[in-house]
Formats: sequence, structure tokens, C-alpha cells
Amino acid sequence: MAAGNGRTERKRVVVTHPLPAERLEALAAWCELEVLQGAQPLSQALSPRQLASCSGLICLLTDAIDIPLLDAMPKLEFVSSVSVGVDHIDVETLTRRNIPVGNTPGVLVDATADTAFALLLAAARRVAEGDRYIREGNWGRDTRWSPDFFLGKDVSGGTLGIIGLGAIGQAVARRAAGFGMSVLGWTPSGREVPGVDSVSLEELLLRSDFVSVHLALAKETRNMLDAEKIAAMKPKAVLVNTARGGIVDEAALVAALDSGHLYAAGLDVFEREPIAMDDPLLRHPRVVAVPHIGSATTLTRGKMVELAVSNATAALQGQPMLHCVNPAVYAAR
Ligand code: DGY
Repeated sequence: MAAGNGRTERKRVVVTHPLPAERLEALAAWCELEVLQGAQPLSQALSPRQLASCSGLICLLTDAIDIPLLDAMPKLEFVSSVSVGVDHIDVETLTRRNIPVGNTPGVLVDATADTAFALLLAAARRVAEGDRYIREGNWGRDTRWSPDFFLGKDVSGGTLGIIGLGAIGQAVARRAAGFGMSVLGWTPSGREVPGVDSVSLEELLLRSDFVSVHLALAKETRNMLDAEKIAAMKPKAVLVNTARGGIVDEAALVAALDSGHLYAAGLDVFEREPIAMDDPLLRHPRVVAVPHIGSATTLTRGKMVELAVSNATAALQGQPMLHCVNPAVYAAR
């Protein structure tokens, strides 16, 4: 766009979180970058004028990209999220406005599958509970090793049910094979995966000693594991969720743990993040909870940032993003 002085005005791109400077260097050649430092929502961090002049947005999964915000950004040309999940973004509205939304699939598959398996093992073998037991000074003469001390649930040889057979679900299935587990799978698309016995969701819940969730959060999957589905799970099963908290009815999960219907849960994600300290899930000894760290390794997070920046750079250059969740916007151009 001409600035009135013969020079071309550079587009303004806002980055909602301080990402490593070296990762942003190449992008800075293509635009005027503004990197926000605080944790405030965008609508508070930026004035209406600043929002109105913004052409691009690099955001995190903690940023709500909703209609009021989008209405305040009439010049917006792209959104690039440092995440594979885009449930924090109103993709439907952006698609209607012909604005591409980028995400970062692929690069976090192994890190997330490792976290799911870590939670599965920790919940089954009471790892976090045992750690607390020692630190709280409970391991003494009267409570040392005995045949029935701190018994857990066998993982090896058990049946794992994977809900969602995308790349992460498949990576979890590969790990389960190494533990000699039988693997059942269900995915909304009906996709068949080698090494995974595809069954109905009902059968998966009924037969699985462990259930691991690997779906995106969307209208169709919100509260999918509700009280009825949780009641249909095999007694003493373990539920693992590294996808999104909103897929599981947390009150029903607590009730199933309290009643002893479920053995344990390993949770990386919650309906509300950060979870409130008085949330009943945190009071339950058989819940292993970690703070949404599924993809949190140095290598993986580096790759996620790199991909989000590449998506943004492509958009600024007028090219299709490498990973775009609403590619229909390109066809409409
Ligand atoms: C994502 O990218 O959506 C993951 O939840 C990050 O861990």
C-alpha cells in the first residue's frame, strides 16, 4: 500500500507472545512486527487503532480469536497459531471473511504421544501418588514393601482404546504395541490403521482397560465423553486425555472416579485452563494432572514456532500457508 510519500507501507503483524527473536528475524524482513510481552487479551493489550491497523496475527492457543476481536481488525489478512488445535479461533467466521488460518500439525506428534503414554503409565502405576506418599513422610517402617503395598494396574498385555486415529493417535498405538497391548481404535472418519482393530465407540469403551483421547475439540466432539459414555467404559479403566478438556465431561469423570467405576485418569488438558485449585479433579488421588505440556519439549516447541512463522511468512508473500485449516479460502480468491 502506498504511504503517500512514494514509499510502500509495511504491513503490521502482531505476535501475541514473546517468541525467540532469532525465529522472528526472517519474518521481520516482510513486515512491521509488534511482539506483545504481557498475558493480557489482545483487546486490552492493543488500542482500537492498533487493532484496526493489524494485517496479520501470530497467536497461541491461549488467545481467544473471536468475533468481537475480528470485528476490531478489519485489515486482518491471516491468523497463524502456534498450535495444532484451533478451537480457540473462530475459523468459521475467518473462512467467511476469506482469511486463512495456519496451524502446526505433524511436528508435535511424538512429543504428545510420549506424554499420553507417560500419563497412562503414571496413572496405572500410581507414580504421582507414590511420589507424594514419600515426600509427605508416609513411607516408614510400618508401610515398607509388602506383597499388597501400593498395587497398581497392569499396562503390559492390557487393551488400549484410542479415540481419534490421526497422527497422534497412531503414534500412541505404536507405543502400545511395544508394551504388548491389544489396540482398539475409533475415529469419526472411520479410518482404518494397520495394527489397530477398528471398532465402534461403544465397543471400544466396553473393552478397553485404557482409553486415550486424540480428537480435535469441535462442536461435534464437545462433551463427547459424557456421563453416559463414561458409565459405558469398562469397570476400573483408566482415561487419558492429552487432546482438549472440553471433550470430557469433567463432573462425570470425577463422579466415576469417586464411585470407583474408573480406576484413574491421566490429564494434560482441562475444560478451564489453568484449572482452579479447588477443582474436584485435583483433590482425587488417582488423577495425574499436568499443565497442558503434551508438546512441551525444546525441540518440538521450536519446530511449532518455526512452522507458525513460516505460515505467516507465506501469507505475507501472498502464498498459500504450508498448513492451513481452511484452504477453501484460497480457492475463493
Ligand atoms: C496444540 O498444539 O494444540 C497442543 O495442544 C499444544 O500442546
